[in-house]
Amino acid sequence: MNDTIQLNHALELNSGIKVHNRLFKSAMSEQLGDKHLNPKPELVELYRVWAEGGIGISVTGNVMVDRSALGEPRNVVLDQHSNLDMFRSWAKNGTQQNTQLWMQLNHPGKQVPAILSEVPVAPSAIPLTGGLEKGFNTPRALTEAEILEIIERFATSASLAKKTGFTGIQIHGAHGYLVSQFLSPRHNQRTDQWGGTPENRMRFVLEVYRAIREKVGNNFPVGIKLNSADFMKDGFTEDESMTVVKALDSAGIDLIEISGGTYESPSMMGANVKESTRRREAYFLEYAEQVRQHVSTRLVVTGGFRSAKAMTEALQSGATDMIGVARPMALQPDLPIRLINDPSYRIELPNPTTGIAAMDQMSMLGITWFEAQLQRIGKKQQPKPKLSSWFVVFQMFAGLGKHAFQKRRA
Ligand SMILES: Cc1cc2nc3c(=O)[nH]c(=O)nc-3n(C[C@H](O)[C@H](O)[C@H](O)COP(=O)(O)O)c2cc1C
Repeated sequence: MNDTIQLNHALELNSGIKVHNRLFKSAMSEQLGDKHLNPKPELVELYRVWAEGGIGISVTGNVMVDRSALGEPRNVVLDQHSNLDMFRSWAKNGTQQNTQLWMQLNHPGKQVPAILSEVPVAPSAIPLTGGLEKGFNTPRALTEAEILEIIERFATSASLAKKTGFTGIQIHGAHGYLVSQFLSPRHNQRTDQWGGTPENRMRFVLEVYRAIREKVGNNFPVGIKLNSADFMKDGFTEDESMTVVKALDSAGIDLIEISGGTYESPSMMGANVKESTRRREAYFLEYAEQVRQHVSTRLVVTGGFRSAKAMTEALQSGATDMIGVARPMALQPDLPIRLINDPSYRIELPNPTTGIAAMDQMSMLGITWFEAQLQRIGKKQQPKPKLSSWFVVFQMFAGLGKHAFQKRRA
């Protein structure tokens, strides 16, 4: 408990880097990659706007480490074939006002829509469930050589991010993507050194971290977004997550962002969250309180924060060092300045719907509606709280073009 900490107080990380306040823009996939999977000018503009809005750490939407494994059609990829000038421009604009700009690196594993891959890869050949098996193909198990190659890809992308001016890296270890698939006893049923015991299942994330650290050195912040739990039967539990937290802390990670859930069970977006937790705003704060008892690594809790009051209370409770916000930043890019200047500030988010639950689910409206706001900001338009859900759905299917029909057939 420390009731003097405020949202505008600076924070020093293990690596010696100083962050100018306690607000952290959590990753939101922007869908602003061009056809060569390089950043579009709109992506550069979006991060310029966020930097001007006063955020302390701005984490990019997931950037893929392998151009043959995309999570979404318009992802950005950073590898030796990328146009580094566009990444330099992105970094230059996103680091204005002394903003820390961290690149989130990701490999989707089996969470690749069927329109993008016939046979995605995963730790084990286990399909997704919960209705997702219709839109996502059954994966094949990675060979050990492929696992080692993917670890190297994370390290290469991290080193290119540093070279082009990004100021930190975040490994995407949450929400059911490849790192989280390796951690999960449900999704990882390998019998070699990469599966089985909790120690074997966390080998992949520790090797990814080690390989990145070797490339970027000790003075460059490396963090991770990790699930408190997957909230799935036989999935990754809070106890297992705590073991991973301790291992990453010992390995020297700079910051752990706590989230939870997967696309099979989307607790990170507030699904299945108890009403009492929702009222407290932060979905994963109780788990962070436990983590705090065990490790000294800097922590961020993301999911559900909407008011300066709840954010300040969470900081002062000592459970978290920074406050993660995602969707509110899509509607109010200068949210940090507003929160810092007005302790009673609160943002209400609309709950976009077409009125047809199946349509909302098929178009993943809870995500695509916010993505549409990011694209507006990138085009120098204001976010639009009253944006029509039907317009977003129509735009999404139009953008998929011929793939839209393949998807319906799948
Ligand atoms: C449009 C959109 C895209 C997202 N993309 C990512 C992503 O690329 N990586 C990630 O870790 N989380 C992603 N998320 C999840 C957010 O980072 C965050 O965990 C979630 O929205 C809960 O926080 P909030 O209540 O502040 O929005 C995304 C969320 C939205 C709405």
